[in-house]
Amino acid sequence: MRSFTTLSSKWTALLIIAALCYLFTPAVSVKHENFKTCDQSGFCKRNRQYADKATALGSQWEAPYRITPESLSWKNGQLQGTILKTINKQGETVRLPITISFLESGSARVTIDEEKRQKGEIELRHDSKARKERYNEAQSWAIVGGLDVSKSATEERDASRSIVKYGPEGKFQAVVTFAPFGIDFKRDDITQIKFNDRGLANLDHWRPKVDKPEPEKKEGEDAPAETPVAETGEDESTWWDETFGGNTDSKAKGPESVAIDITFPGYEHVFGIPEHAGSLPLKETRQSSGNHQDPYRLYNADVFEYIMDSPMTLYGSIPFMQAHKKDSTVGVFWLNAAEMWIDVIKEKEAHNPLSLGIGSKTDTKTHWFSESGLIDVFVFLGPTAKEVTKAYGELTGYTQLPQEFSIAYHQCRWNYNTDEDVKDVDRKMSKHQIPYDVIWLDIEYTDDKQYFTWDPLQFPNPTGMLEQLDQSERKLVAIIDPHIKNKDGYHIVEELKKKDLAVHNKDGNIYEGWCWPGSSHWVDCFNPAAIKWWISLFKYDAFKGSASNLFIWNDMNEPSVFNGPETTMPKDNLHHGNWEHRDVHNINGMTFHNATYQAMLERKKGEIRRPFVLTRSFYAGSQRLGAMWTGDNQASWDHLAAGFPMILNNGIAGFPFAGADVGGFFGNPEKDLLTRWYQAGAFYPFFRGHAHIDTRRREPYLIGEPYTPIITQALRLRYALLPAWYTAFHEASVDGTPIIRPHYFVYPGDEAGFDLDDQFFVGSTGLLAKPVVTEKAESVDIYLPDDEIYYDYFDYEKYTGQGKVTVPAPLEKIPLLMQGGHIIPRKDRPRRSSGLMKWDPYTLVIVLGKSGSATGELYVDDGETFDYQQGAYIHRTFEFSNGVLESKDIGTKGKLTDKYLKTMKSVGVEKLIIIGAPKEWAEKTSVKAGREEARLEYYAEEGKKAAWAVVKAPKVAIGENWKIEF
Ligand code: NOJ
Repeated sequence: MRSFTTLSSKWTALLIIAALCYLFTPAVSVKHENFKTCDQSGFCKRNRQYADKATALGSQWEAPYRITPESLSWKNGQLQGTILKTINKQGETVRLPITISFLESGSARVTIDEEKRQKGEIELRHDSKARKERYNEAQSWAIVGGLDVSKSATEERDASRSIVKYGPEGKFQAVVTFAPFGIDFKRDDITQIKFNDRGLANLDHWRPKVDKPEPEKKEGEDAPAETPVAETGEDESTWWDETFGGNTDSKAKGPESVAIDITFPGYEHVFGIPEHAGSLPLKETRQSSGNHQDPYRLYNADVFEYIMDSPMTLYGSIPFMQAHKKDSTVGVFWLNAAEMWIDVIKEKEAHNPLSLGIGSKTDTKTHWFSESGLIDVFVFLGPTAKEVTKAYGELTGYTQLPQEFSIAYHQCRWNYNTDEDVKDVDRKMSKHQIPYDVIWLDIEYTDDKQYFTWDPLQFPNPTGMLEQLDQSERKLVAIIDPHIKNKDGYHIVEELKKKDLAVHNKDGNIYEGWCWPGSSHWVDCFNPAAIKWWISLFKYDAFKGSASNLFIWNDMNEPSVFNGPETTMPKDNLHHGNWEHRDVHNINGMTFHNATYQAMLERKKGEIRRPFVLTRSFYAGSQRLGAMWTGDNQASWDHLAAGFPMILNNGIAGFPFAGADVGGFFGNPEKDLLTRWYQAGAFYPFFRGHAHIDTRRREPYLIGEPYTPIITQALRLRYALLPAWYTAFHEASVDGTPIIRPHYFVYPGDEAGFDLDDQFFVGSTGLLAKPVVTEKAESVDIYLPDDEIYYDYFDYEKYTGQGKVTVPAPLEKIPLLMQGGHIIPRKDRPRRSSGLMKWDPYTLVIVLGKSGSATGELYVDDGETFDYQQGAYIHRTFEFSNGVLESKDIGTKGKLTDKYLKTMKSVGVEKLIIIGAPKEWAEKTSVKAGREEARLEYYAEEGKKAAWAVVKAPKVAIGENWKIEF
């Protein structure tokens, strides 16, 4: 006992020192070694060993899971039954209830639980107060719809399997094999996804701990180190407790991991499962060199200074994967909130002698394992990526349609030091005519890291500051984190404790740990009462000094705990309902984000605005609540390059409102790096410059010639294209289509482009961008997917022919092409903020394709309220063909449509730019716009530069039907 106390106090001292080091030198203290590798994670290692054993035995391997046919019943689109797991040589079994649901949407869901835990027939160790069941509430946080079961699905069964036909026109099939248990999902009779094909399904059933006699030891000698072995011969060294980095996790419920293998036959590419710093196509994790050694890990953590090209976990988790091959995409969503790992391997299918010379194909074989919870997997059979993303979004919700300001530029650093500092930056941005919409305050604005307060010396007048910003329709975002400073007299912590709304430790007392404020408690947003309380804190009269142009940033919500295991909370902490933190960890950040979102919805009765809340930690469903960013990157070229694959991956995993810190968080970027980063950032759906407290100031006007003007151009480009960006956000908000789109998503049949993750399309605009992410580049190669005409965005130089083209990219130029056949809406008048552009007229850029025609879309609303839900919006298509440009309404009329259209009556089109204008127009001087004539100027082709024309002041309103004849 004495030695334990000494050890524990020594550890406490060490941890405090470690925490202090983190506080003062954050850029150097957290390292890769602070996070587990698979070998250091008990259940990861076990499940990999299990896979190795099964693989080594090959056809001799007897997977110990089988469905008992007599247990099966089919009712209302659901197949229910029991899986028996054989647990020893004597043939003893445990019962695992399984439900396979076939949903109206065409998705299927497989849920496997454990009867004993479900019924609470287990004993917990250490007098634990934890819940006995496997965590079954992930659905209530992640899923918001799409669960209606199919009315048309049908089932047929024989002695060895059950076959369910479901989906559109019954095109999908699930073939459930009883022994060993397995499911093949088919589309048009071809197997697309296989469950338990390799027999790696594994569910750690509950068992009592059998205490063995202590090994004998001679006096004065240490006991021999022995790996504890269970009666079954399994290594039980991490079943009952697990130690890492000096923290011991008491596992009151024993081992409880769940696993299954999922094979995608014939699919060579898999994407998704963010968040990792690596390529868009996922790499193999168990094969030869050059690939990853560890599985992809999802365990939300504060991993700053993260390393590149790594399967290591980061701040957020979306366990949704898409598998893609030529003209077919399918997907799976593993609904589980515990720590998880995913192994990916690829195997060539054996050459089929009957395939008449067609070469062998590759299967991607994945192996998923979570530390606890249910096996709960959704299956999407596509066949397109768009359909898979849409079906996933039907379940977890689509991207929130954001306030328009939030898709403009954000100016942040840790920290703007005083309210005068904020006002000064604001004035200087205006003086230098650099547009921005939002300035941010990091943690130092608070009084002693107490959220909902202002430092009285540095921020004596927040209201004055907010008022100045409002004069240019600008906003402020202030940070509020989930750790609440444990300090006497701080009213928030006192209420938190009094109302008992904080996360508890394993003994049921309020958990205490370290974060920015020092000793802190964590609000438990799994608790409805905590959410209610949190909402009350944001009312204008509670959060004094806040106003309607103040929005919120939620950081550190993994949660980050400086002295916790792997910089987070102990897994045996308890949340509302006595769920262990282990069970809910990956959802934790989303619950905090959700509480803040709810709070922002109605800070004042009757004043309902769309919230804007940025989050660092996220899970499936977070897209409904705001934006995310990729955390603490570095001011280096490789981090600049890493941004796009990460953002693209987030986009196809349903959370496209994403960005990376422009300029890099740690370190001081060279001027060319910073400039290139702004050019890249202009293509992030979430566009924010941010920097660590130890870095030099780098507001765009400080950088000097020629950089400041180039950065300003990049910012103005973003502002000019805001109508196109907002239209893309609208699309994402109705069907989940990513805002920036990877090649495979847009060209699913073009195998040569499946690996591309450094060029992308912006919405449906036909804009094809490849911002420079390498040092000293003078040009970049862009891959053209088809033989359409592509025009340089800035000088209209033409590029044609499928394959690579080289586009010049001196520092002042962003490689950006316009694909023929599109119409791009813009606003060309430079302003201080997007709010000031609200009533500005539009420019339509008509990019003529080979066929001489083009189409495009525009979505507009007030950019801040929810009135669009009652029809207060404009949604139009523009079509140019046979010399006529036509604007057509594609919106649905609602209660507020007419009122909104009235407010937009005077907003018109000021300019049409026609790129690739036909030669015959050379003599043309006007076009017919309704009853009026508008002037046309023609510019002939010059070398490789396309001919173009401009029509000035066609005097047509943006919200009305019209035709312009050329
Ligand atoms: C960590 C965040 O990732 C970073 O962006 C922020 O500046 C610091 N916390 C301080 O709040």
